[in-house]
Amino acid sequence: MLSADESRLWEALEIGPQWLLRETPDPLLPETSLARPAPAGQRTVQAASDSPVRRPAPPAPVRRTVPVRAQTAEPMPGPAAPAPAPQISQTALDADILAKIPAADWETLRTLAEKCACCRMAKSRQHMVYAEGGPGVRIAIVGEAPGSEEDLQGIPFVGKSGQLLTQMLESLGITRKKDTVILNVLKCRPPGNRNPMPEEVACCEHYLRRQLELVQPDVLLIMGRFAVQTLLRTTPDQSIGSQRGRVHTVDCGGRSVRAVVTYHPSYLLRSPDQKAKAWEDLVLFRRTLHEAGIDMPARTKQWM
Ligand code: URA
Repeated sequence: MLSADESRLWEALEIGPQWLLRETPDPLLPETSLARPAPAGQRTVQAASDSPVRRPAPPAPVRRTVPVRAQTAEPMPGPAAPAPAPQISQTALDADILAKIPAADWETLRTLAEKCACCRMAKSRQHMVYAEGGPGVRIAIVGEAPGSEEDLQGIPFVGKSGQLLTQMLESLGITRKKDTVILNVLKCRPPGNRNPMPEEVACCEHYLRRQLELVQPDVLLIMGRFAVQTLLRTTPDQSIGSQRGRVHTVDCGGRSVRAVVTYHPSYLLRSPDQKAKAWEDLVLFRRTLHEAGIDMPARTKQWM
């Protein structure tokens, strides 16, 4: 039997049929969690806007150390895995761009990515796809690489997989344009939607890491194996399945940020039988948001 919230997740993922058990607590959330009053000093998430996931316009981002983020509802699950020395070739990226990335602000970084000719996709792309949204939100979503529609429009996740992503987020009460920043590992479309090559990831990872440092999210949703490999430094033989079901931490410019892993929406479109697992991931993601002090408003919109 599903609670109403769980049922909405199923609907968003187009899983059915289903049985509704209304007004019952979510068995996957701690019993008291939703009712718990915010501890003193906790971020008042609704203050700046109607959204618990939106921040007031941030000051010019600077490198921060972990204690700045003491306002999360519960302590982090553990220290961030030490950021391993990037196993990436720094020689492939233009030396001038590479030198500017660490101090670049959001728009400067976009300009640097526009100019990037690190790999051959610089010649084949229609648009560099930088991000949807930017600093000022608390949720970052990281996918793989633009597809043909994204390449045409210069915006991530606007094709079919993007529609599914939107539904998945909305089932949690998250409005993607308002509440999230959406990023990809690769900023340019691999021709024919082939898999990213290691050297392409190596170039683009510099932009992604700086983006995460500038956004300073409180929770990450990592979708698909290339995003998982890049951000969690797993190896190709470590399946997504082995990373699901627990909360990871990702180092975002010196801060430990909670991260949940799930399947890529394109994969879910191809393998709908995996949607039930994605549903479990979304439940974990929702719980992780809560633990980070982000409680989503009740949804009013119904699917279908
Ligand atoms: N798939 C991705 O990983 N990113 C996009 O932007 C679109 C499809």
